[in-house]
Amino acid sequence: MKRERLGVMPLNGFWEFRRDPGGVGSEEGFYEGFESEYLLAVPASWNEQVPELMNYMGIAWYARRFTVPKAFEGLRAWLVFEGVNYRAEVWLNGRYLGGHEGGFTSFRLEAPVEYDSENLLVVKVDNTLTPKSVPPGRGLHGFEGPYFDFFHYGGIHRPVRVEFTGPSWVEELAVTAHADGRLRAVVRTGGEEPDRVYVKVLDEGKVLYSGEAAREERGVYAIEGLVRGIKPWDIGRGRVYKLVVDVYTESLADSVYEYIGFRDFEVRSGKLLLNGREVRLLGFGRHQDFPVFGRYLPEPVVVRDYAMMAKLNANSFRTSHYPYSSADLDYADRMGVLVILEAPLVGLREEHFRDREYLEKCKRVLSEMIREHRNRPSVIMYSVANEPQSWLDEAVPFLKELANTVRSLDPTRPVTFTSHAHMAGRDDKALGVADVISLNFYHGWYTLHGDLEAAIRRVNEDLEEVHRRYPNKPILITEFGAGAVAGLHSDPPEMWTEEYQAELISRYIDLFSSKGYVKGIHIWNLVDFKTPQSHWRVVLNRKGVLTRTRQPKLAARVVAEKFGRLKMGGGTAEEA
Ligand code: GCU
Repeated sequence: MKRERLGVMPLNGFWEFRRDPGGVGSEEGFYEGFESEYLLAVPASWNEQVPELMNYMGIAWYARRFTVPKAFEGLRAWLVFEGVNYRAEVWLNGRYLGGHEGGFTSFRLEAPVEYDSENLLVVKVDNTLTPKSVPPGRGLHGFEGPYFDFFHYGGIHRPVRVEFTGPSWVEELAVTAHADGRLRAVVRTGGEEPDRVYVKVLDEGKVLYSGEAAREERGVYAIEGLVRGIKPWDIGRGRVYKLVVDVYTESLADSVYEYIGFRDFEVRSGKLLLNGREVRLLGFGRHQDFPVFGRYLPEPVVVRDYAMMAKLNANSFRTSHYPYSSADLDYADRMGVLVILEAPLVGLREEHFRDREYLEKCKRVLSEMIREHRNRPSVIMYSVANEPQSWLDEAVPFLKELANTVRSLDPTRPVTFTSHAHMAGRDDKALGVADVISLNFYHGWYTLHGDLEAAIRRVNEDLEEVHRRYPNKPILITEFGAGAVAGLHSDPPEMWTEEYQAELISRYIDLFSSKGYVKGIHIWNLVDFKTPQSHWRVVLNRKGVLTRTRQPKLAARVVAEKFGRLKMGGGTAEEA
């Protein structure tokens, strides 16, 4: 949900910053101001802005001052943080407002600002990684550390702003909009009970639909209707409309909006159907990662990622391994790209499956992610976890509870998780939990080194086995790939060269496109990205089809050609 009508004040820019390795800031009163160590940019991770901060993991403090115009007096002010990794605690003018755990979902806190004078905003950020974090891990370096293969950055890595409302406001908005124009919106309000709640649908300023939402119970308002004259949202045609919710007490108390798309996505008889037509997902696992910015993906890089995915004839991606920023997903909505929205649950192991408290934390993070992004036309599916140890019996009830959390909040989208049990030579016990099966393959990279003939045979065996067990479920290939250091070449193709990466990807795509039950092909990864240091990472994870600065490797040409043929050849009905 976005606001602008009653006033928004972005707080991006340079903030005071200091590390607090000893964790003394709270008792020393840093929340009332502290001696700054650096002036850092927000949003961005702290790690790559200053060399001395690259490997800092622990507590840090941010501070900045801002003034709210007198004209805003009488309104309620809210601080909105789109993402802080990993734990945040917030003070305003020395007064504690609240906190949040989890780096990839937004949170908002009511802020008793002073008008027409300086307010001091202080944020304590702790990115210490623990086995009970979401995602879990131990340290910054090496694989004895994070249970996941991406760098554990820290900081206020997504935008911060002040928003204003009256005495009543929109707490939550759930919209379903079908390709035939049918619309349902449910509004949950906070604060005083409003007198009236209006819902409008605009097309470039023109009102297509307007109605008053009926009060269903205290704080809950709903409206259903038919919006005439809309064009369905589709792949490559991100036809969006502005849905506005205006809440009135004696005057306008709050106004929020979202860009929605009218479309239907469903899984039926083993197929993925968009607006009733079969589609096949062609694309990538990505990462929100860029030099110096760290985990913050600045808008120009978002644009380039989508421009390059379009050149590679991709129509979809997975938000591996955490929900991406609003800016990124706004772009997916507008560009007509299909998104598998993945929760930040990567590296789940036996110790987690037995931990009820940890399960509740996972369900909370999942719920936050769904509430934040469920009105997006681009989001077609939820992935509740990446490569959990799902060959363990205890994994089944755990993943089932996660799937049920999703279905209770959003019954309109299928649920998956990505499985790599076959890579460990194990049977996945939990595939029955998923509406769509997602598999990650690395034969020819982590196994059968350099032997692509044997690798493809082994992939085929593993894949056919899963299909035999679940003949009616669509299967997505959510990861496969090889590392390639850009500029490294060999004939014949050998591991770590561009030729080997291109050859592996080419053969895998040929195999998968020969299987009618494979309904999605996602390469790992669109880009090279930063990971913990180790002997098996060449500074970065080099499986990108693009370099970290988004320049193409040899494999890019192969992917563009293969995906292009699949698109044209009816492999994805979108072109038919
Ligand atoms: C795993 C995992 C990725 C990781 C990849 C790799 O499948 O899902 O996060 O980066 O393998 O090892 O490159």
